[in-house]
Amino acid sequence: MIQDIEKYEKEIDGYVIESSAQLEEFRLTYLSRKGIIAQLFEDFKNLQGEDKRSVGKPLNVLKKKAEDLFEQKKAEFENQDGASDEGIDFSLPVYQDMPGSVHPLKAVENRLIDIFYSLGFDLADGPEIEDDWHNFGALNFADDHPARDMQDTFFIGEHVLRTHTSSVQIREMQKHEPPFRLIMPGRVYRNEAVSSRSNCFFHQIEGLYVDQGVTFADLKQTLYYFVQQFFGKGKEVRFRSSYFPFTEPSAEMDVWVGLDTEENKRLTKGTGWLEVLGCGMVHPNVLDACGIDSQKFSGFAFGIGMDRITMLNYGINDIRDLFLNDVRMLKQFQGQ
Ligand code: PHE
Repeated sequence: MIQDIEKYEKEIDGYVIESSAQLEEFRLTYLSRKGIIAQLFEDFKNLQGEDKRSVGKPLNVLKKKAEDLFEQKKAEFENQDGASDEGIDFSLPVYQDMPGSVHPLKAVENRLIDIFYSLGFDLADGPEIEDDWHNFGALNFADDHPARDMQDTFFIGEHVLRTHTSSVQIREMQKHEPPFRLIMPGRVYRNEAVSSRSNCFFHQIEGLYVDQGVTFADLKQTLYYFVQQFFGKGKEVRFRSSYFPFTEPSAEMDVWVGLDTEENKRLTKGTGWLEVLGCGMVHPNVLDACGIDSQKFSGFAFGIGMDRITMLNYGINDIRDLFLNDVRMLKQFQGQ
């Protein structure tokens, strides 16, 4: 045993430790519970008499040597730049087999941004906690207008969690002189019963185009282009007239999903059509509220429900699946 101890002593003297990874290897080899030194102590227990006395001391010296070297190297690495006291070791290899993945909602958002970029739209965003004026007042909701009930609002004292990304329209219109074309993605909140089809928060991408002579035909053409790019050529859509206080005229657009599966029947409430956006011509009162001359300028706006089209795109049947952060589901989107 004495010979073993001498051999290990030499080994430790010559051991090269130049990285945290090597340090860890050293610790595992010599100092861990199943390491060489622990094993020597196990053997030591079985020795008798004279042997025990002669081995005890060198064994303890060996142990101390290994521990000292470990502590000394550890302190060296901790003082180096990059490796911080928080125990983050930047020199460790990355796990190549576990790359992150883009969340399906983000993947859809990125595609939408690309599509609208190609039409000359710029990106903007605004706060999720809004005041009443940006979320409602400036968007032509009168104080006692029943349309406020359309959107079950979460209130935080004087403020609201924005119920739609249309609030960002207001912030941008106050900032810019027309012409401008903007898309504004973001999370919105409504106090709705949670089910497979609706959640108390979801995601929209708002579009806004203000210039001289913008018409409903421009709006339709822009949306047709988006549908073709996103869903592919030949995707059927329909416009239904609708009502929003901040657009006139207003419409909603549905895409044809079909009735061939039980899932599609459920998703479309038996109609085959899925509503994906609200839109319309910006109401003159809204332009005026933002200091834009409604005699001179006109504009269109739309708000696309991103969760719906994400579900459609990937065949996800329950909106809640998007927010469980279940790795088994998220892994499927690696490389998107
Ligand atoms: N803000 C509306 C909603 O959330 C959608 C919309 C946006 C309608 C822009 C018209 C114009 O339902």
